[in-house]
Amino acid sequence: MRLQRVAAQVPAGARLADIGSDHAYLPVALLRRGAIAAAVAGEVALTPFNAACRTVRDQGLEQQVRVRLADGLAAIEPADAIDAISICGMGGESIRDILDSGKARLSGRERLILQPNGGEQPLRQWLMDNGYRILHEEILRENRFDYEVIVAERAGPVAYTEEQLYFGPLQMQARSPAFLAKWQSILQRKQQTLANFARARQAVPEDKVQQVARQARWITELLA
Ligand SMILES: C[S@@+](CC[C@H](N)C(=O)[O-])C[C@H]1O[C@@H](n2cnc3c(N)ncnc32)[C@H](O)[C@@H]1O
Repeated sequence: MRLQRVAAQVPAGARLADIGSDHAYLPVALLRRGAIAAAVAGEVALTPFNAACRTVRDQGLEQQVRVRLADGLAAIEPADAIDAISICGMGGESIRDILDSGKARLSGRERLILQPNGGEQPLRQWLMDNGYRILHEEILRENRFDYEVIVAERAGPVAYTEEQLYFGPLQMQARSPAFLAKWQSILQRKQQTLANFARARQAVPEDKVQQVARQARWITELLA
């Protein structure tokens, strides 16, 4: 379900680089249904790299999918003419670090399809700082986890407020049931954290208390 939602955001006929591809299920599924033209599956770790090679071989897709053992965007070569990049199933900070350290490999014409597990705020901050506009966002709940999908393209300077970076600018507008349920449960946790801070024997740094209090206030306003 999670990867299906990601797949739905990959443009038809794309040349996709799936970074951190694990078993290469996403590029292989897209190729099998003729949705993309070609793919690179990048993996930094040997066991998932071997798994990706096996999936591609078993499906007879060696001509269409290049599986590369590489760190982040180093899997992409200019000749691949990649126009969509997916990075899924990692923390938002890890996705941000992959994008940041691989900046030189980005032409700026790629659509980014990102599926962070937490850490969405720093990832959105990186997107804004690097001129990427968020085109689509969604939340889905699977196995009691909330997953976000963020789609962005480089489109010149964009300015998001702190709250937009925290909640997601499009999700704030759409206010889907999954989005409201996610923030309702995060608010409960923030309030519990603040209560724990108040009871803590050792003083919690004031800036930490203020940060959590500010976030709880934002969420309360959002849900009002
Ligand atoms: C939890 S799996 C997610 C697999 C798949 N993308 C998905 O969403 O189901 C994360 C994968 O990313 C790989 N990975 C982590 N950091 C990476 C990096 N810097 N470059 C390439 N792959 C990386 C890991 O080895 C692991 O196989």
